[in-house]
Amino acid sequence: MKTIEDLDVAGRRVFVRADLNVPLSGATITDDGRIRAVAPTIAKLVERGAKVVVASHLGRPKGEPDPQFSLAPVAVRLGEILGTPVAFATDTVGESAKATVAALADGEVTLLENLRFNAGETSKDDAERGAFADQLADLADLYVGDGFGAVHRKHASVFDLPARLPHAVGDLIATEVGVLKRLTEEVERPYVVVLGGSKVSDKVGVIDNLLGKADRILIGGGMAYTFLKAKGHEVGISLLQEDQIPTVLDYLKRGEESGVEFVLPVDVAISGSFPDTKTFAPVEDFEVVGADGIPADKEGLDIGPRTRELFAAKLADAKTVFWNGPVGVFEHPAFAEGTKAVAQALVDGDAFSVVGGGDSAAAVRILGFDETKFGHISTGGGASLEYLEGKTLPGLAALEG
Ligand code: 3PG
Repeated sequence: MKTIEDLDVAGRRVFVRADLNVPLSGATITDDGRIRAVAPTIAKLVERGAKVVVASHLGRPKGEPDPQFSLAPVAVRLGEILGTPVAFATDTVGESAKATVAALADGEVTLLENLRFNAGETSKDDAERGAFADQLADLADLYVGDGFGAVHRKHASVFDLPARLPHAVGDLIATEVGVLKRLTEEVERPYVVVLGGSKVSDKVGVIDNLLGKADRILIGGGMAYTFLKAKGHEVGISLLQEDQIPTVLDYLKRGEESGVEFVLPVDVAISGSFPDTKTFAPVEDFEVVGADGIPADKEGLDIGPRTRELFAAKLADAKTVFWNGPVGVFEHPAFAEGTKAVAQALVDGDAFSVVGGGDSAAAVRILGFDETKFGHISTGGGASLEYLEGKTLPGLAALEG
């Protein structure tokens, strides 16, 4: 793969496909990690006199403009981080984009509006995606792929556009791939994986692959309740994917056969309803129960104190850790303790720790942990999982050659 250093960028329009899909509360960015992560690539291009055209998706709009998914607040924050104003185009390939790009002087930056406001970006139809990629290609002379969080998407700006322009890999993707390689090649053991988040079905491929590689797999978050149910426990109104129970039983069996230890919660924090993560209203019926004692009208929302200790003990001697997905509803203080305990165990240990995933990466920062205490905080959730599954990622394949 070519790097930015291989491109002659001075005075040329360089399209940077970033992943600026940041969490928003109204127009307020609640975690700017992804913006900060790609800023050095943009700064380098600015320094070398490129006219930089940055583009990204945000959320999942339905192929047409939708103000709640506008990248306008991101343009402001990007400008603050770069220390230089970032012009904002109010469309993707229309009059505003054309005029804003045409007005760029060397060393200036513009951000286009959300690429997913155009149906061609995510279309399954090659011709429709290609037509949008053609329009994007008219806005630039060179392409830099640096949206690691989106490289698993076969989308116009990720997959089709690099085929139309001389291209290179950005510094963020180069770093991310370098780190993930360390988890797939010679891994230092014990290799412990912590998986959380809501759905087992999102993690099926990665668990399958990790069964041949990890020493221990710790399961928390909403997905844990499908594991507990598979073990014969009642889970009340907790998140449950009944259809995944056979898959989970198969994992547990294969884990036993191959000596991979699955560690499940032994106690959980419960409530009768999902907590209000906007007002942080106190949870009146908060309770901790054994993992085999969830009442029929309650749902598990975090791992309990005994599980926090258990997980910390299972992480203590690790040499390599991959963590994807919060182990509780960390957005509410009553259910943040489990996720805090996992982060603390990584900070206290001496393992090379990789935090993968938009949610767990944001959790680490929102809960106030020092990012530098972790081996690497990835900007890609689905992307890092699919990389570890051993899949070919369209956005990386497109940058080859
Ligand atoms: C992410 O947040 O994982 C990436 O930005 C990809 O977003 P998507 O799942 O909506 O494609």
